[in-house]
Amino acid sequence: MRIQNSLPLALFLSTQSVAALDFDLNHPDTIEAAAKVLVSSITTPYNTTFSSKPTFPLPDNPNPYPAWVPPSAWTALIEYAHLSGDTSFNTLVASALQEQATATDGWTKPELSNVEMSSWAIAALTALETGLEEPSDESKSWIDLAKGVFEMQVTRWNEDSAAACSGGLFAGGSDGGSGKPAFANTNFFLLASRLALATGGEDPVFVEWAEKVWTWIEGTMVDKQSWSVNDLSVGSDGKCEIDGVWFRGYRDRAILIEGVANLWNLTAASTENSTWTAPLTSLTSALCATDSPECRPAATDSEDQTVDYIIRGCESGATGQCPFDNRALKGPWIRSLGRAASLVSSLTDAEERLTRIVDASAQAAASRCRPREGEGASIGCDVKWYKSCNTPDGWCMGAMPPTVEVGGLGEVHAALEAVQGVLWTT
Ligand SMILES: *[C@@H]1O[C@H](CO)[C@@H](O)[C@H](O)[C@H]1NC(C)=O
Ligand SMILES: *[C@@H]1O[C@H](CO)[C@@H](O)[C@H](O)[C@H]1NC(C)=O
Ligand SMILES: *[C@@H]1O[C@H](CO)[C@@H](O)[C@H](O)[C@H]1NC(C)=O
Repeated sequence: MRIQNSLPLALFLSTQSVAALDFDLNHPDTIEAAAKVLVSSITTPYNTTFSSKPTFPLPDNPNPYPAWVPPSAWTALIEYAHLSGDTSFNTLVASALQEQATATDGWTKPELSNVEMSSWAIAALTALETGLEEPSDESKSWIDLAKGVFEMQVTRWNEDSAAACSGGLFAGGSDGGSGKPAFANTNFFLLASRLALATGGEDPVFVEWAEKVWTWIEGTMVDKQSWSVNDLSVGSDGKCEIDGVWFRGYRDRAILIEGVANLWNLTAASTENSTWTAPLTSLTSALCATDSPECRPAATDSEDQTVDYIIRGCESGATGQCPFDNRALKGPWIRSLGRAASLVSSLTDAEERLTRIVDASAQAAASRCRPREGEGASIGCDVKWYKSCNTPDGWCMGAMPPTVEVGGLGEVHAALEAVQGVLWTT
């Protein structure tokens, strides 16, 4: 086994040539150590190969990351310091965030898509919540950056009653199109709800918009059987159509759960019977249902199909393949479930279900992260977290896992969110 100098020895099983991260739910120090290795596997290449570009450009890759992936990764890095108490990466993280905010006018440039904008705003809000050092430019405080995006998206809200799907956000940005993607809308709801909670409900505008956006999403996008979230598109005849989105709808349901949990937490303190209890219960009860492929091996896998509480994205499909642009989506997905668990501590059923999923997913993700043989110290992680993995496209155990150096930012940050997600409730 090739053990790289910068990696703590204890993190690897000693005898195998391909060893996973050491991770034990009963030992928080192993959780923090595993998270730190994953954090270093993002910050080290950022600091060198990528010449400090906060968007992690991939010069040799024909498929750039979806624009929301870098801000999602930065959000994970900000949370790491809060969850582990290790602030050694904060200078780097704060300066990268500020550099990006400056380069993009506080993330309100018209050419940015709504998801890209709101993902950076969530990073800024996370910085605020966790006390990351504020930008030296006072006009770009974390709260102002997040509010700036919120205000921009309020102006983009599409109320044209003549058009179908009246309400909602289009994809926005330079290639806006006629679709209203679930992610753009769930993330706007999340931003409004987090602003409401972060400001203690003082300014009613955030709660009002959270309610308004929720009402529209629930009425148009949510499938009431699975509570997963559909994309919408406006047809040439002006009719509003549903585009089923399969696994991505589970990611968006998780984002709704976090948003509703924020509002529940905000109102639970002052009202005995929060209006958010019912939606929260519906959404969380639908998690990992036995009749959905969300948390069990796909029917094509030759193994036990029982629910194991490990979340699955595109790899749950018939082919088991996961295209580049979908390899990051378990990052925001598991992050939202972990954060929600910490917000609903007095709703026992919801909290237990959320915690169970985060724990199982964290353990599974850690088991699929390991060094690339013969290469630097970075750790890569398979896109699949569960046991079975028999397609070359799955980057499976035994093959070379994708590190950040070769385009694995999506996979590595998702594994980091799972691993450190356990710490939200401990
Ligand atoms: C990034 O690189 C700078 C300059 O080489 C170094 O001082 C710093 O410690 C590095 N930070 C991280 C987090 O690796
Ligand atoms: C709480 O609100 C729900 C929905 O509005 C209602 O059905 C229920 O009876 C209320 N419970 C109490 C204890 O007031
Ligand atoms: C609201 O969230 C905080 C922070 O996670 C938590 O300590 C508190 O218990 C939550 N409130 C309720 C009523 O569960």
